[in-house]
Amino acid sequence: MEKSEFIWLDGRLVRWEDAKVHVLAHGLNYGTGVFEGIRVYDTPKGKAIFRLKDHVKRLMDGVKVMGFDMTINGKKYGYEEAFEAIKETVRANKNVDYIKPCVFLCGEETGLNPIGVPTSFAITSVYMGNYLGKGADAGAKLITSTWHRPDNLCSPAGAKVNGAYVTSCLAKREAILRGANEAVMLNANGYVAECTGENIFMYKRGKIYTPLPSNSILEGITRNSIIQVARDMGYEVIETDISRTELLTADEVWMTGTAAEIAPVTMIDERPIGTGEIGPVASALKSRFHDIVTGKVPEYADWIDCV
Ligand SMILES: Cc1ncc(COP(=O)(O)O)c(C=O)c1O
Repeated sequence: MEKSEFIWLDGRLVRWEDAKVHVLAHGLNYGTGVFEGIRVYDTPKGKAIFRLKDHVKRLMDGVKVMGFDMTINGKKYGYEEAFEAIKETVRANKNVDYIKPCVFLCGEETGLNPIGVPTSFAITSVYMGNYLGKGADAGAKLITSTWHRPDNLCSPAGAKVNGAYVTSCLAKREAILRGANEAVMLNANGYVAECTGENIFMYKRGKIYTPLPSNSILEGITRNSIIQVARDMGYEVIETDISRTELLTADEVWMTGTAAEIAPVTMIDERPIGTGEIGPVASALKSRFHDIVTGKVPEYADWIDCV
């Protein structure tokens, strides 16, 4: 990750090194925040943000679920204000490809009660490049994590709640220490849920499968895009329960996520997936997705917002 010059914090742009919170901030101690990860691409019309409207909607839905009051320095922030502030942040910085807005409880508290604790809104943009690292370009290696994806009864699995990412961090640590790029997590019922920051798909006997939202996944915006793009390309896409055995014996597997984009998987738990090489379906979707996000496919132009 490369730092940028300015961070948008509570209504104004401040220098990177001046964007600070107190050590007793409620959000730091208890994970009371919601965030987004959003990609910026170079397109023929200049810098553009992929599916910004959907990311802002998911952020604001998370704010609602967590019950945060978005009145900051006397100003009420809603969808429109967040949308504009994100664009302003990208415009203020030079070489950025990833934006991370975060709404969190900044008030200094020792108690758990979040009611009435002041809220802060920060928008950071950085140059991220290849999230999974160069090694994953030839096909990512996964492990099945010993940590389970927390279900909808533990926390709002459909919102990007900061504190809930502790499980993802533990699973990611496990993956890296075992020489893999990513970890796939099973849900409380033993079905495949998702990876630490990506959704998962498999191709088997001519059809594409991905876990259902009820499998305690985050309903990824890239997942949603790939379901639509694959159907537009003529593939049948089925949302269903997937067992670990079905995943290990798939012809192809790939992950989708804003940071990882479309990441083909060639090994899970030391077993090659299909031929052990990146498959033709994942390759075709990856290439189509790249053309879409870089503004080269007019049918998907409304997924792109120029800054
Ligand atoms: C746990 C988890 N699953 C899936 C995803 C993929 O979601 P999206 O495609 O919206 O980035 C993310 C990333 O945001 C994530 O954190």
